[in-house]
Amino acid sequence: MAIPEKFIQDLVDRSDIVDVVSGYVRLSKRSGANMFGLCPFSVSPDKQIYHCFGCGKGGGVISFIMEIENLSYPEAIAFLAKRAGMQMPEETDSAEGRKRARMLAVNKEAARWFYANLSKPEGAPAVQYIQRRGISPAMVKNFGLGAAPDTWESLRNAMREKGFTDNELFDAGLVKRGKNGGFYDAFRNRLMFPVIDVRGNVIGFSGRILGDGEPKYLNSPETLTFNKSRNLFAMNLAKKSKSGYIILSEGNIDVVSLHQAGFDSSVASLGTSLTPEQARLISRYTNEVIIAYDNDGAGLKASQRAIGILEKLDIKVRVLRMSGAKDPDEYIKTKGPEAFRKLLEGSENQMDYRLRAIREKYDLNVTEQKSDYLREAVELLARLPDEVRRQVYAMDLAKELGLPPDVIVNDVERRRKRLVNASFKQVQKEQARPEKQMQPAARELKYDDPASAAAEEGLIRLLYLEPALVTTPGLPPPEDFSAPGLGRIYAVVRKRVEKGQNVSTDHLAGELSGDELGLLVAILQKPEMLSRSRQSMSDYIAKIEERKQLRDGSTDLMALRDQLKKKKGYEG
Ligand code: GTP
Ligand code: MN
Repeated sequence: MAIPEKFIQDLVDRSDIVDVVSGYVRLSKRSGANMFGLCPFSVSPDKQIYHCFGCGKGGGVISFIMEIENLSYPEAIAFLAKRAGMQMPEETDSAEGRKRARMLAVNKEAARWFYANLSKPEGAPAVQYIQRRGISPAMVKNFGLGAAPDTWESLRNAMREKGFTDNELFDAGLVKRGKNGGFYDAFRNRLMFPVIDVRGNVIGFSGRILGDGEPKYLNSPETLTFNKSRNLFAMNLAKKSKSGYIILSEGNIDVVSLHQAGFDSSVASLGTSLTPEQARLISRYTNEVIIAYDNDGAGLKASQRAIGILEKLDIKVRVLRMSGAKDPDEYIKTKGPEAFRKLLEGSENQMDYRLRAIREKYDLNVTEQKSDYLREAVELLARLPDEVRRQVYAMDLAKELGLPPDVIVNDVERRRKRLVNASFKQVQKEQARPEKQMQPAARELKYDDPASAAAEEGLIRLLYLEPALVTTPGLPPPEDFSAPGLGRIYAVVRKRVEKGQNVSTDHLAGELSGDELGLLVAILQKPEMLSRSRQSMSDYIAKIEERKQLRDGSTDLMALRDQLKKKKGYEG
């Protein structure tokens, strides 16, 4: 990280975590107790850290901003600097910052060039396609659509004339490298959709084939600027909408069509199913999402996944039912914008949608299937937290099936009681299991050897709280740690301590992943007796080495056993 340590320290000193966090609590009207989904959340003013007990997220003020604003480490620093009224040190000081700036510049130039092609002969096929799809000139401009001509080196030559090198073009994913080592345009004979982030940067491209053929879309590869899972197509436009909700569709063309018909809050995920990061991005602008995915099996499945992800962030979700059309584009083309607006107004809530999804699995004329439907529907209703809603739905269900309402209402309530009891017992059981308590919240960081991990945690904690202990003889190398995640945290903390650098979580946020940082915060919150720190340090080291020898020994033994087994197999 080339942002000077001193600057980060000043910034953190001027950005009190309680002030920063409370800004969000008030703005979003969310209670502090569920900042991220449903987790209990706490802020500690003296340690200047926050911690989420459920999902394990945690860190200092910088990582808080990274999480809530969906920003990278340097972006979060810039964000806080603006807030604190501090001038950022020149970003171009860092090699990565320079590279990023160049990549954004070449992307912007390329987008301009694609757009300009529409008025040239080589853009004619794309123009024809635009007309065939009924996309208006206003939308072409709004989205900055463009044409990649059917040639091998036009973009490359145009960009080289502007002073960009082949390597820069290659890193940006705009050219590919041929077998002979030469470079050629990555996008050829396609309708180009620039992907623009919420700050207005062109971060990458999506290119649609002009007509039928495979692959239908070509996207920029993942680059320094393009991260598909963290961005949404047209979010730069939708964030300015006054509609109060976001319409989530699947296709770029659907989004263009929707905007053209006046639904200016439409976005699409970039060819993947909705990711938690994209949902977080959406939650910065709205608390209501209307899903308008394709009207097919894949769309239905994707809707169900998206509902789960969005609900976790307290976003209200409704699902559109577009009968008689395969997607929003076709719906608007065949039935008109007014029909789509009606659809939007009547779009079913998640509960109706889920009930319908269950109902569609069964033939209600068959008695047996009818009772299967009833059982599954009751199961679903029992999970509704709101009692009145449970009753309303239960009565609807009774009416639908021609059954006495109070029987169904009682059924649902009885089922609910059982569910609540079971989940209460589960939590109690888990809390009673110490080994469970000690596991990190992030599953990827799971400890295989909890006895060693406890010592590894202790070592990290001591090093953090008392950096002088870095001189303790026999400090193990990170490879000796049983948990790779703890090994990484240890390596970073130790390196910084040895260099005499600051180890506060705010300085580490650029070097550790979010999960790792969360784990570090959890470790720091466990008690440690500093009065006998030297002794503890030696104990931790001894424990780590002892466990390592045990593990090495047992793998040797396992290998030996495997060998024996094999031998026996051959002989027998
Ligand atoms: P039309 O079929 O012309 O209406 O295009 P569309 O933009 O609506 O695309 P579609 O509904 O078929 O696909 C939804 C989205 O998935 C597209 O916008 C792309 O982002 C992505 N996608 C579709 N086909 C491909 C492909 O072949 N490769 C990749 N990488 N993404 C694709
Ligand atoms: Mn489509």
